[in-house]
Amino acid sequence: MSFESDVRRGLGTKPYRLPPHWFYDELGSRLFDAICLLPWYRITRAERRLLHRAARAMTQATPRPAFVAELGPGNGEKLTLFLEDLGGAPPILLVDISHEALAASAARLAKAGFGRVAAVRGTYEAGLARIARERPRRGSALVLFLGSNVGNFEPPRAARFLRDVRSALEPGDGLLLGADLVKPEKDLLLAYDDPLGVTAAFNRNVLARMNRELGADVDLTSFAHRAVWNAGEGRMEMSLVSRLAQTVRIPGARLDVRFRKGESIFTEASYKYVSADLRVRVEAAGFAARRHFEDRAAGYALTLFTAVNRPR
Ligand code: AVI
Repeated sequence: MSFESDVRRGLGTKPYRLPPHWFYDELGSRLFDAICLLPWYRITRAERRLLHRAARAMTQATPRPAFVAELGPGNGEKLTLFLEDLGGAPPILLVDISHEALAASAARLAKAGFGRVAAVRGTYEAGLARIARERPRRGSALVLFLGSNVGNFEPPRAARFLRDVRSALEPGDGLLLGADLVKPEKDLLLAYDDPLGVTAAFNRNVLARMNRELGADVDLTSFAHRAVWNAGEGRMEMSLVSRLAQTVRIPGARLDVRFRKGESIFTEASYKYVSADLRVRVEAAGFAARRHFEDRAAGYALTLFTAVNRPR
């Protein structure tokens, strides 16, 4: 799916929406890295601490994985730290739609001495097919899906994705899953509408990208960043709200889009979980929870699952 076709589809009919993976061009990836440094966005720091604990526990309890894959490695920092804690140097596969993310993470791993790194630039599905093909026949594989990336999937898509991960694995293989937990609304609002405006810039960058890549004429100041907690759905929602009635021209997508004042583009859903519910959902895909690490202050959990029965 190309940016052009997703823009045509997402802005060609109402309600307007764009898939969140288009945030991550070079600038968007850097803005996301900046978000991870914000005091109000605690996911990354909490996960780093939990990964350290998980690596220690895994070295004590099981043989080291013979193959490690990360879906959506970002800048590769967490994977590098985790592998350093875990010890050994297994073959690594990185899967990301973003060229920038793959380049940054592969470079970081190489610098830390992890030489056997392969990359799939594409969808998670393409990456999972490659994992199924390339995992060694001996020893176990470990797939990491961190950063609460699962939260950016709608629940049916998350269920399908978990079943696809399970299908790519063999019994005994691991899935290390990071998930952001339900927490007080005020904390969520600060995390997704930070006082420095970094998340607003990250959100608006998808409009800037339309200008850069599709020759659009969006006045970036004419869209406001909005983040709301949808308690019924258990998710944070981000959108871009037109401050005025306007028509945006997007020649690269052969589209003119009319906005009423206050009309919005839905850009991201970020689901928040209750640990026990998430466990049930992952287990329904053919996994069993083995170890659970939780940072209660930050409201973040990292769970190690093992592939067991075939998905139901
Ligand atoms: C990558 N993903 C899990 C982030 C999230 O929290 O949903 C993206 C993000 N959106 C706004 N801030 C960060």
